[in-house]
Amino acid sequence: MLTSTQVEDIRANFPILDRKTYLYSCSQGALSTAVEAGFAAYLTSWRTSAAPWDEWVGVYERLRESFARFINAEPDEVAIINSASGGINPIASAIQFDSRDAVVMSEYEFPTMGQIWLAQEPRGARVEFLKGVNNTIPIESYARAIDERTHIVPITQISFLNGFRSDVPAILKLAHDNGALVFLDGYQDCGTRPIDVKALGVDFFVTGTLKYLLGPPGLGFLYVRRELIETLRPTMTSWFAQRDIFAFDTQHLDLAPTARRFENGAPPIPSIYGAGPALSLLTSIGMENVAAQVERLAQTFLDGARALGIATKTPSTSVGPLVVLRAKHPAAALERLTERGVVVSTRMDGVRFAFHVYNDLADVHAALNVLEEMRHLMMPV
Ligand SMILES: Cc1ncc(COP(=O)(O)O)c(C=O)c1O
Repeated sequence: MLTSTQVEDIRANFPILDRKTYLYSCSQGALSTAVEAGFAAYLTSWRTSAAPWDEWVGVYERLRESFARFINAEPDEVAIINSASGGINPIASAIQFDSRDAVVMSEYEFPTMGQIWLAQEPRGARVEFLKGVNNTIPIESYARAIDERTHIVPITQISFLNGFRSDVPAILKLAHDNGALVFLDGYQDCGTRPIDVKALGVDFFVTGTLKYLLGPPGLGFLYVRRELIETLRPTMTSWFAQRDIFAFDTQHLDLAPTARRFENGAPPIPSIYGAGPALSLLTSIGMENVAAQVERLAQTFLDGARALGIATKTPSTSVGPLVVLRAKHPAAALERLTERGVVVSTRMDGVRFAFHVYNDLADVHAALNVLEEMRHLMMPV
C-alpha cells in the first residue's frame, strides 16, 4: 500500500490535480509531465532528423515490448493499433462463421464491440446479447447461451456503463469447455491492476492508452494468443501487416507470422512517443500498489454514497476503478459537479466517478461533499 507521501509524489506528475478533482480516467487519464516530455521528444525527432523513420520504428518496437511485458505476453503476440475498434475489426474479419456462427456477449459491452460483430451478420454471424439483471450479468445467462454453435464470446472486463466487473475466469471456462474463443476488452480496467493474459488464458485482449494507461488517444494494443495468429487471415490489412514491411511489393499479400498481421497502416507515431513514458510511470509505481490505492478509494467512495442514501449502479463490493451513481437529473448533476471542479462524466442515467492511483482521499471527500449538497439531483436508494 502506498503511503500518503508516495501518493503526493505521484500526484506531482499531473499538473491538473492542483486545480481539479479529477475523477475522469474512465474517459481520459490525466496528462503527466512524463507524457508531455514524450511528445516533446517526438517533435524534436521530427525537427532534427530529415528521415526519422528508423528512429520512429525503433520506438514503436520498444513500446510493443514494454506492453507485452506489462500483460505477460511475447512481443510477437502484440499488435499496435490506433483504437480498440482497430483491434477488434481485423479479428472479426478473419473469422469464418460456419457451423459455429454464434457470437455471445452481454448488453454491457462497449458499443463498438456489439456493432463490429453485428457488421459480420451478412457474413453469417448470429449475435446474441445477454440481458443485464440489476446491473450485473448472471453467470447462468452465459451458461445458457454458450454451446457448440458459439464461435466467440467478447467480454468487457469492466462495463463502461455501470462499473460492473465480469467474472472473466468463469465465463472463459464456459467458453473454452464449449470450444469457443474469448475476446477480452480490458479498456476500462487496464492500467489499474496487474494483468497476466497467459494466466487468464484469454484468446484475444484489447485495450487502448487513452484511459487508465494514462496515454494519448489514437493508440491501442491487441494481444492474440500465439497458436491462433497464423490461423487467422484478416481481410482488412495493410503494408504494416506484411512479413517485410519495407518490401514494397504491391502485387503480393504476405502476412506477417506475428500479431503485426492485424495492424493497419503506418502507426500513430506521436501517440507512441506519448504512451511509452506513461507505461513506464505506471510500471515504476507498481501495479499492485495501483490496485490497492484504487480499491481503497472506490470502497471509501461507495461507503460515502451509501451513507448519503444515493443509489449506485456499481456493486457495493467493487474494487473499482469505476463507480457509477444513479442520477435523477444527470445533466444537472454533471453541471453542478463540473462547476465545483469535480471532473466526471455521465452515461445514460449514471454519473461516473473513476479512481486512479493519482487520486487521494481528499478527492473522494471533495466529490462526496458536492454530492451531499446536490442530493436532490441524484436517485435515492
Ligand atoms: C470498454 C471500452 N471499449 C472500447 C472503448 C473505445 O473503443 P475505441 O478505442 O475503438 O474508440 C471504450 C471507450 O471509449 C471502452 O470503454
